[in-house]
Amino acid sequence: MQRLKIEGGHRLCGELEIQGAKNSVLPILSACVLTGDEVRLNRCPPLSDVYAAMRILSCLGCKCKRDGTSVIVDTAVLDKNVISDALMRRMRSSIIFLGALLGSVGECTLSFPGGCELGPRPIDLHLSALRQLGAQIDEAHGRLICSCPKGLKGTLINLSFPSVGATENVMLAAVTAKGETVISNAAREPEICDLAEFLNRCGAKISGAGSSRIKIKGVPRSQLHGCEFDIMPDRIATVTYMCAAAITGGEAKLKGARSCDIEAVINLLRQSGCSVYECCDGLYISSSKGLKAVRSVRTQPYPGFPTDAQAIVMACMTRAQGTGIFVEDIFENRFRHVDELVRMGADIKTEGRVAVVSGVSSLSGANVVAPDLRGGAALCVAACAAQGETLISNVELIDRGYDSIECALARLGVKAERKV
Ligand code: UD1
Repeated sequence: MQRLKIEGGHRLCGELEIQGAKNSVLPILSACVLTGDEVRLNRCPPLSDVYAAMRILSCLGCKCKRDGTSVIVDTAVLDKNVISDALMRRMRSSIIFLGALLGSVGECTLSFPGGCELGPRPIDLHLSALRQLGAQIDEAHGRLICSCPKGLKGTLINLSFPSVGATENVMLAAVTAKGETVISNAAREPEICDLAEFLNRCGAKISGAGSSRIKIKGVPRSQLHGCEFDIMPDRIATVTYMCAAAITGGEAKLKGARSCDIEAVINLLRQSGCSVYECCDGLYISSSKGLKAVRSVRTQPYPGFPTDAQAIVMACMTRAQGTGIFVEDIFENRFRHVDELVRMGADIKTEGRVAVVSGVSSLSGANVVAPDLRGGAALCVAACAAQGETLISNVELIDRGYDSIECALARLGVKAERKV
């Protein structure tokens, strides 16, 4: 079992290149099956979730290889349409292959996805939207047997919640559907824009991504082709390293980071006393005056405060002066990091979806367990400021979304290492 050892209590200072976005690269990897051609994805982070998506592509008959920081996917041969239960369970994003396979080969068999440590993560919106496009989806023995006997046909899809995954699945299936599909109440996350930009680069006709109304004009699959594409910078990795700098009263330059994707978090860090500004090639943060608590943080769909940043920012606020409230409105079970932060000396009380964080003057290193991906990142942030040594286990959950978090932290001056 691998663990991370972090020796905290030192002020961070350094410069770091931000990795490509996990939540962008995963849907884009599945979108490759629509092209039937070679795609080169640059700034593709070497994450375990990325390798899981590449394994799914290989099992479908496609060729995938890594070339430095790029991944090359050739989907000219796509001669299977079944994804095993074991592969589907490796990550939540595996469900995005459903829309992509319906759009490319018109049928597939797969199962419910894994990655449900945040509480129930239903896919009813995905399935109902794809059925509206003409897909026939039968559920039997935990498997989803999907086909579109009459082809897919564009229509108006009104999502009752701006689900990121459902929006992506509909976009992927609708690219080759007959006629026009309109998604209303679509998710507006930056990763949706990245997916639309990638698909358009491959010959799709998508407009309105980034707004709550996305239009997709169907094109014949034969008109789609490969391309070279740069994955957007990871906004949650950016928030993680900003918070690591902030909690230690330090400073960091994050090369390639974009402020426009994380305005809700930047506003909050500024309110708590940090200086954050854009520089020519990224973002700079400094926090020399000590943090002040911000009254309340409520997670919301984009452009609201991201649920993925909740645990990380909460870790940062454990040392802020005063009391703040966090409300988790997206997922039911997303406070599992709290008990671990409390072990490190944090003062946090939870009730249902509300956490009350009262700042403490110091945290202390402890043996803790990463409860999930972002909860694990939150423990790394707290460990940077804690007195003494913190040992974090369950590192494989952190590896799902961070390219060697210990090396990134070391670049910012943290004494961090992986113990195998
Ligand atoms: C969510 C986040 C996304 C984040 C990702 C990984 C939001 C809106 N989405 O995306 O930013 O990167 O987790 O942590 O913050 N739901 C249903 N039925 C469905 C689909 C979703 O009820 O078919 C509900 C979920 O239970 C949950 C909410 O909608 O309460 C979040 O949905 P969704 O955006 O679909 O989740 P992800 O795509 O996983």
